[in-house]
Amino acid sequence: MSETPGPWSPSSWHDYPIQQQPDWPDSGALEQSLKQIASMPPLVFAGEARSLQTELAHVAAGNAFLLQAGDCAESFEEFSADNIREKLRVILQMAIILTYSVGVPIVKVGRIAGQFAKPRSSPTEQVGDLSLPTFRGHIVNDPAVTEAARIPNPERLVQAYHQSASTLNLLRAFAKGGFADLSRVHSWTQEFVSNSPQGQRYEQLAAEIDRALSFMRACGVETESNPNLSEVDVFTSHEALILGYEEALTRKDSLTGNWFDCSAHMLWIGERTRDLDGAHIEFLSGIGNPIGCKVGPSTSVDYVLELCAKLNPSRVPGRLTLISRMGADLVEDKLRPLLRAVTDAGHPIVWACDPMHGNTFSAPNGRKTRDFDEVLREVGGFVRAHRAENTWPGGIHVELTGENVTECVGGGEALSAADLDDRYETMCDPRLNASQSVDLAFRVAELLRDFT
Ligand code: PEP
Ligand code: CO
Repeated sequence: MSETPGPWSPSSWHDYPIQQQPDWPDSGALEQSLKQIASMPPLVFAGEARSLQTELAHVAAGNAFLLQAGDCAESFEEFSADNIREKLRVILQMAIILTYSVGVPIVKVGRIAGQFAKPRSSPTEQVGDLSLPTFRGHIVNDPAVTEAARIPNPERLVQAYHQSASTLNLLRAFAKGGFADLSRVHSWTQEFVSNSPQGQRYEQLAAEIDRALSFMRACGVETESNPNLSEVDVFTSHEALILGYEEALTRKDSLTGNWFDCSAHMLWIGERTRDLDGAHIEFLSGIGNPIGCKVGPSTSVDYVLELCAKLNPSRVPGRLTLISRMGADLVEDKLRPLLRAVTDAGHPIVWACDPMHGNTFSAPNGRKTRDFDEVLREVGGFVRAHRAENTWPGGIHVELTGENVTECVGGGEALSAADLDDRYETMCDPRLNASQSVDLAFRVAELLRDFT
């Protein structure tokens, strides 16, 4: 850039090169939608984002573990109380399995209540003779294969805001209203263990958790009457991709005078928009929320050090999560030098493993899929890298749903490529289904067991 950039403001990103933005055809309509969103209440409060940052600081210090999970892309159509409840149910089950095995608190962050926008590898898609703008998530356009459906429509930004608000409302009710009671969540896991062939492998661990709960009850600790055991904190997160939307929800915290992006508790930058001199890094560098950045296999030591310096110059623990998504084959070799350099430079990072995005392939029928074993293999490589560098494998970041879909192959039910057509419902990338997710939690628990 020829001119020296000015100070940060919620709109300073406009002065930087930007990628992956929709080609909104009507700038007047866009402006109107953004103005409407800017006048609406915040979805989350600055104080909540700060609480998450405090919890993530415990992760950075090796005293807690991050479970970040949810849809690749939320849908305007698959939007129901059941859907939200089932997703939360799986996340809670995974959290209990991990809490017991790893022996530290699990910080629960959903890819939910705002995870609508998708980066794409190409701006257009060829369907037969038609060259159409690509689908960029329901916050932008519709996936139907027509020219009209693919035109970016700014009214969708407002709809995404409203859907996020309803989702968050329900999540808050479930988290505090008895649904998350420890005994109840464990009883679902027991069902999984006794009713499914793959569950039997985990009988011993489930029985141990059961004994721990009985012991507590015998000591007079009833989960129902103890908020620590019957209520949970569930935080929200999404990729901060459409910066106009994020700017419209960025508000000044009256307590501290700092700016917070009140669209979610945590925001992250995707693999395709993490240019050090780009608009996305500029925007996230100035908000007070805890933030994340995906780091893929091309990430160099110099890059990651500059990234940390830009996004967390004051080295605040819990502020920055680096989400590695290297692929199962590469993770160990690629991650180790990054772990070493960041540790040597004294940056307090939360390291999370996204074992999904580096392991996607097309099945013979053309369906995009992921193999459960490769997902697990990437987590294994991630844990080994940390063990070798004496750093803390701080968390996992996964795409899942509570529904019984068939989008990823393998896992305890041994889904095959031929099964993919049964219930392939994702809006974007293939997600682990409910039983694959619980299965993964048990496997990750085994990998981490001797770490603490
Ligand atoms: C995603 O998390 O859905 C995604 C697009 O990931 P990445 O930026 O790592 O490719
Ligand atoms: Co995805």
